[in-house]
Amino acid sequence: MKKVVIYISVLLIAVIQLSNVTAQQKSIKQKVDSVLRSMTLEEKIGQLNQYNDDWKATGPVTVDNDKANQIRKGQVGSLLNCLGTERTRSWQNIAMQSRLKIPLLFGQDVIHGYKTTFPIPLAEACSWDLDAMQLSARIAATEASASGIHWTFAPMVDIARDPRWGRVMEGAGEDPYLGSKIAYARVKGFQGNKLGDVNALMACAKHFAAYGAAIGGRDYNSVDMSDRMLWETYLPPFKAAVDAGAATFMNSFNDINGVPATGNKYLQRDILKGKWGFKGFVVSDWGSIGEMINHGNVKNEYEAALSAITAGSDMDMESRCYKKNLVQLVKDKKVAVALIDDAVKRILTKKFELGLFDDPFKFCDTERERQALNNPEHAKAARAIAAKSIVLLKNQNNLLPLSKNTRTIAFIGPLVKPLRQNKGFWDIEIPGIDSNFIVSQWEGLQNKLGTNTTLLYAKGCNIEGTTKDGFAEAVEIAKQADVVILSIGERRDMSGEAKSRSMLNIPGVQEDLLAALLATGKPIVVLINAGRPLVFNYTADNAPAILYTWWLGSEAGNAIADVLFGDYNPSAKLPITFPVSVGQIPIYYSHFNTGRPATNDNSHNYNSSYNDVSIFPKYEFGYGLSYTDFQYSNLQLSKKKMKVNEEIEVIVTITNTGKYDGEEVVQLYLRDKVGSIARPVKELKDFKKIKLNIGESKTVKFIIGKEKLSFYNQQLQWVVEPGDFDLMIGASSRDIRLKDNFEVVK
Ligand code: NOJ
Repeated sequence: MKKVVIYISVLLIAVIQLSNVTAQQKSIKQKVDSVLRSMTLEEKIGQLNQYNDDWKATGPVTVDNDKANQIRKGQVGSLLNCLGTERTRSWQNIAMQSRLKIPLLFGQDVIHGYKTTFPIPLAEACSWDLDAMQLSARIAATEASASGIHWTFAPMVDIARDPRWGRVMEGAGEDPYLGSKIAYARVKGFQGNKLGDVNALMACAKHFAAYGAAIGGRDYNSVDMSDRMLWETYLPPFKAAVDAGAATFMNSFNDINGVPATGNKYLQRDILKGKWGFKGFVVSDWGSIGEMINHGNVKNEYEAALSAITAGSDMDMESRCYKKNLVQLVKDKKVAVALIDDAVKRILTKKFELGLFDDPFKFCDTERERQALNNPEHAKAARAIAAKSIVLLKNQNNLLPLSKNTRTIAFIGPLVKPLRQNKGFWDIEIPGIDSNFIVSQWEGLQNKLGTNTTLLYAKGCNIEGTTKDGFAEAVEIAKQADVVILSIGERRDMSGEAKSRSMLNIPGVQEDLLAALLATGKPIVVLINAGRPLVFNYTADNAPAILYTWWLGSEAGNAIADVLFGDYNPSAKLPITFPVSVGQIPIYYSHFNTGRPATNDNSHNYNSSYNDVSIFPKYEFGYGLSYTDFQYSNLQLSKKKMKVNEEIEVIVTITNTGKYDGEEVVQLYLRDKVGSIARPVKELKDFKKIKLNIGESKTVKFIIGKEKLSFYNQQLQWVVEPGDFDLMIGASSRDIRLKDNFEVVK
């Protein structure tokens, strides 16, 4: 009886909440309609324009000394790249002088933190810790929203399988399943409970779509892709973003099969706003509407504006094609006012949902800004997720963790002392606010070590360049040390937008420095700092211990020290394949088998292999070591045959058999043995991250149902085809520990 009462009460509360939301939405709709009715065509078009403020540009800037005037006339709907309560307040004040007083939206690339910088998104993805990623987005939102920002251009949910593309750093790697989970978590994190909350930031899933598949890894390049590849691999994280309630989408610079994404009706109207029912608005990428002229799809800005608005791009970031042409397009009857109204309504709806019509200065509270940007809890969270993002690639003879009582440590390399490098690309510099509070790697070690340890330093060499002048000093201090730690890698801005590379080696003479240090015979731990998977075979084959630290953000130094000295046992796993050579790219774990599969590197008997390089990656998707060992046992399936609508329960026991407490990411892969469309050799379908103390065992449970077995058939229908499936449980995509199979029957 008691249970029934509780159940009914919960149900009632849910119904009341739902009806409140519906009533709220209804009233927002009425308000939007009423504002719309009072707008002139010029004012409507004004809402569709987004201009860059003066602070920082990530594209060609239109020099415009008339911004304030245009805002006053209601000709601008949004600004990007203006930061801080004072600056946003001053622009909003001007917007309040316009006839209808429609508030401006302030957008910003808050990609991996605001004042507190978190690891770059690809690094965070290595944690496979969805709660931690949601939290980092939440904190970024709390800080940015307190600083006048309403909207972040994140998360980037592009699947990326080509590390030559500099923007791999900004996403979650190569896999649609993992990518979708992370996309969902990040959207939830940025937006919080609901948009009306004062610490919510509108998310923007970008870049719609397939930008990560730019040919040759060259940024802004074309994409040539089958429909199935698009649906199966590149679209799922976007769908997850819609499911998470993403308020906005950004389209992309690339053309896809010859049609620029910005002018792509199939993507924006048919899929996003049609099939998926997306109610938010779409912003173009920077200047991408005008760039359709360069693509060769439209003749001039007039045609560009026509193409973009027809295709469903609601807001024009910086190209000014809408501003200059939409009025004329309406006069010429090429664009119906209804089309413009639809875009305006979508934008106004978000402004209402954010609460900006009630208080345009809601996000401009200097005191809140001060508090949010100086919250010590944020640094703690950044340190924790940074440690979770560090991947232990190699640990010969258990060199790591190091003892805190080591007498002398030589800390060498061009990345030991720099500060800002640790933040990686897309960091935020806030005018008037000290955003350089970063714990350098040097400081991190100093913080960790007591007076028993002497810490020696030499730079050794620069990140780039050929000079080896610093080698002698580095070798000298290495000789005095018990252990050497060498910190090498890319420059922070070698990966990022417009940062494609054809060679993925560790730049300059840094690996030569390692060789010189190895010659001393001292044990060496290498830290590799980078924004993408690099190719570093010499280091991989010769250094006894390697930590891939990526760019870890404000707390980099502390997090690195936590891992080096065992206060955090590494648990990260790669979300993207590391190639042996650039020539293997694109290389990803979920490939097809082909008609002539190669199974090893020794035979090149007319099979699908290379004659000069391995078929295997250097480090595979899902790979990452721990200081402890995990044993997998007792795999059990609740049944071996299931009907399409049934489920199978899978359980497996994991035991910590090593000497440290630790966390393991247990990965479940499936292979559909025979399909009307060939299926990949394995696909990640689930994972669980668990914590196990020394000697502890835990049972991990997975449920396999229809969703995990479906794929897009020839007609692009999402179906399960009855037949045999292999089930693999592994510690990585290659390190499969246990296997079984089952059959799906009609
Ligand atoms: C261009 C980038 O592609 C996009 O991701 C970013 O949000 C905009 N510039 C704004 O900076």
